[in-house]
Amino acid sequence: MAHLIPLSRLARLVGQPRSVLQRMAQDGELASFDGQVELDEVLRLFPDVRLEDEKELRRVEEIKDQALLKSPVRPELPDAIVLYERLRILGREFAAARGRLKHHERVHGWMAGKLAEAVETRQATPQFAEQFLNWFKRELAAPQADIRNWEELLAMERVMRVMSAQVTIVPSGQSFEVMGDETLLEAGLHAGLSLPYGCSNGTCGQCKCRIVRGDVVKVHPHDYVLSAADKQSGYTLSCAYTAVGDLEIEVPLWGVADIPEQTIVTRVRAIEKLGPARVALHLLTPRAERLRYLAGQQIEITIAGESRLVPAAGCPCEERRIEVHVLCDRDDAFDRRVLDGLAANDEVGIRGPFGDFVLDDASERPVVLIAKGPGFAPVKSLLQHALSLEHAPSITLYRIAGAEGLYQENLLKSYAGALDHFRYVAFPAGHATAELVDGIVRDTALASIAGHDVYAAGDGGFVAEVRAHLSARGLPAGQFKGVDIA
Ligand code: FES
Repeated sequence: MAHLIPLSRLARLVGQPRSVLQRMAQDGELASFDGQVELDEVLRLFPDVRLEDEKELRRVEEIKDQALLKSPVRPELPDAIVLYERLRILGREFAAARGRLKHHERVHGWMAGKLAEAVETRQATPQFAEQFLNWFKRELAAPQADIRNWEELLAMERVMRVMSAQVTIVPSGQSFEVMGDETLLEAGLHAGLSLPYGCSNGTCGQCKCRIVRGDVVKVHPHDYVLSAADKQSGYTLSCAYTAVGDLEIEVPLWGVADIPEQTIVTRVRAIEKLGPARVALHLLTPRAERLRYLAGQQIEITIAGESRLVPAAGCPCEERRIEVHVLCDRDDAFDRRVLDGLAANDEVGIRGPFGDFVLDDASERPVVLIAKGPGFAPVKSLLQHALSLEHAPSITLYRIAGAEGLYQENLLKSYAGALDHFRYVAFPAGHATAELVDGIVRDTALASIAGHDVYAAGDGGFVAEVRAHLSARGLPAGQFKGVDIA
């Protein structure tokens, strides 16, 4: 019987980003069926996979989680009912496997009897029968190394199945894992997907999604009442239910136009000095509220009555945490308020989101990010989102120093060290834009700039120049997005 493993789970098993496996499947190197891979195929391609070396996998996961400011993947048990259902499914599969084994034992007994009969009636020579039986016993007694590896891989995959469930979204084909007692909504947002929602506590009904295949179970009470027609059509509330086993749901992901403008009062978690002329404000939304926005968008922040539009520098997958970068110009009244008048736990109003500098989630092209000076904030947001989604086969960040130099370099170096599909290239200040673009286009690691999606952020003149130079070198207009960050 074929044992199929979803690509996301396989990525965790063999310690590769999902985008790398997707590219292998597209290139025909890895045979996959509906986003799933057969166990034998895994061992053919990764014969040396060291399943016992979980420590190294966990280390990479931890660096990624710390770097993305995400809560680490929790090794928590799922809800008791979910756990019971998953164990029941595994129990049924185990019983079926035992049944098949019993049947094979009977067939083997029958074969041995037939062979003895063939010797007795002289239809087979005794030497042939003896050799055959010896070979047969040897094979049964000592499974070969590849079978042991197969069993080990299967056992690990089965444990993963109990601890987590795989959810695939149709029609987009994106997928995410539900860990511990997470709801579908929490897990989807954690994975960087823009699932629609409103209250996130079972009141508004905006998180409705349709179950195409699989079962869900309620893990939070909800006041919103699903109509009889909704229930009949398989609708559920993603903020109140979780997946029992692997699941397929139908839900349209949010785009820029779908997200309502929101006003929230946040509190300052920390103020981090990034350099001589810039600070990062780390904000926290109230417990029952989080800002719905897409990576790369901008937010208006208000401090003591003064407002400013700033790009988000974090990722919506960071749950209630919001990061923005603010210039520290002592001649500017707003900046002085941040520098001199703001402390941990102070209130900061936020309104938004605004702008459409967001990733094209539907594209599977490699991503090139270009950031100059303060343009780093929205690019960092896109980078964290792209890493969270594990969608792009490769991501390269070209960063050009602004007046205040390069900051958060260690963060980028930790990404580059931990993730095979991410590259970071820094340029000092002072290069002409044409010269920089030439360097990027000639970068030997990029096969051709025309096959990439390019996102550039910096002052308006810089972005316009980058756009013009890349267009002249064959980048289609639809594959470039830019934002003016002064
Ligand atoms: S988000 Fe409001 S009911 Fe789920």
